[in-house]
Amino acid sequence: MSRLLTAALLGATLLLAGPGVFAQGKELNVYSSRHYQTDEALYSGFTKQTGIRINRIEAGEDPLIERIRSEGERSPADVLITVDAGRLWRAEQIGLLQPVKSPVLEKRIPASFREPEGRWFGFSMRARVIAYDKAKVKPDEVSTYEALADPKWKGRLCMRSSTNIYNLSLMGALIHHLGEPGAEAWAKSVRANLAQEPKGGDTDQLKAVAAGACDVTISNQYYYARLARSTKPADREIAQRVGVVFPNQGSWGTHVNISGAGVLKHAPHREAAVKFLEYLASDEAQRYFADGNNEWPVVESVKTENPVLRDFGDFKRDGLNVAVLGRNQPASQKIYDRVGWK
Ligand SMILES: [Fe+2]
Repeated sequence: MSRLLTAALLGATLLLAGPGVFAQGKELNVYSSRHYQTDEALYSGFTKQTGIRINRIEAGEDPLIERIRSEGERSPADVLITVDAGRLWRAEQIGLLQPVKSPVLEKRIPASFREPEGRWFGFSMRARVIAYDKAKVKPDEVSTYEALADPKWKGRLCMRSSTNIYNLSLMGALIHHLGEPGAEAWAKSVRANLAQEPKGGDTDQLKAVAAGACDVTISNQYYYARLARSTKPADREIAQRVGVVFPNQGSWGTHVNISGAGVLKHAPHREAAVKFLEYLASDEAQRYFADGNNEWPVVESVKTENPVLRDFGDFKRDGLNVAVLGRNQPASQKIYDRVGWK
């Protein structure tokens, strides 16, 4: 009797679970702030391999996070893809992401590029490099971030706004390595060296150096690579005037960051979402994911075929876990505010 009852209950459970289980295996909702051509190959490769269809929602970084937040428990979002550990940290802070335990991800992705609890993972790496006017500056004059604090650069630096996530994350690394007082002293001196008030994005800073408005700036390497690989001669000319240094090779290494992804807390297709993250760490996906934005694969056995990145060669990167950049974010913004770096 009781065995019959158990069997009946089991049957009912299976019946109820049936359609859900089916949907679980066949569909995935990816919310992404990326929109590169290589992403097409990325998504279709996953569908071919798993039979799971991908529905994509694409929007700017901050609106995307806001959308998931406002959708709340009913959000159909399974996976969030966005850039900068500082931004993934913001999503984590407001409780949007859930921890994922995956031996595949833990093996393939270096520990410093993963949130320690598995709430998000880096899938490509970018470096925040120093760019300089080749006609006026020698690379050994700008071999460290700290060197930019020297008064000799007075009126010669261009920097983008401190509210930008790339500069917040850079400050997060400086706080870790120099301590808060050291990081603040750096920001104060760099602020005092500015040739103009912060304006525009990284590409605008590179253009300002090439145009002679300033001699030195800081930029993510892919903005330089974009100009160098541009079909427009004027862009390539900018890249030719500008030299790139990977700072701090003799000390803590160049500040690096990630493009990454995490599984959302209310993901309706959790299993497929984890499968997708594992796919992003595969050799094939690593190339597409990194190449779309002139970034490096994070999986060490996968080498870049990007001509500009290959010319840069190997470099020493900061080994700090990128999750620290997020944790230091409130302190970073306060430092920039105190020194009047807009
Ligand atoms: Fe960017």
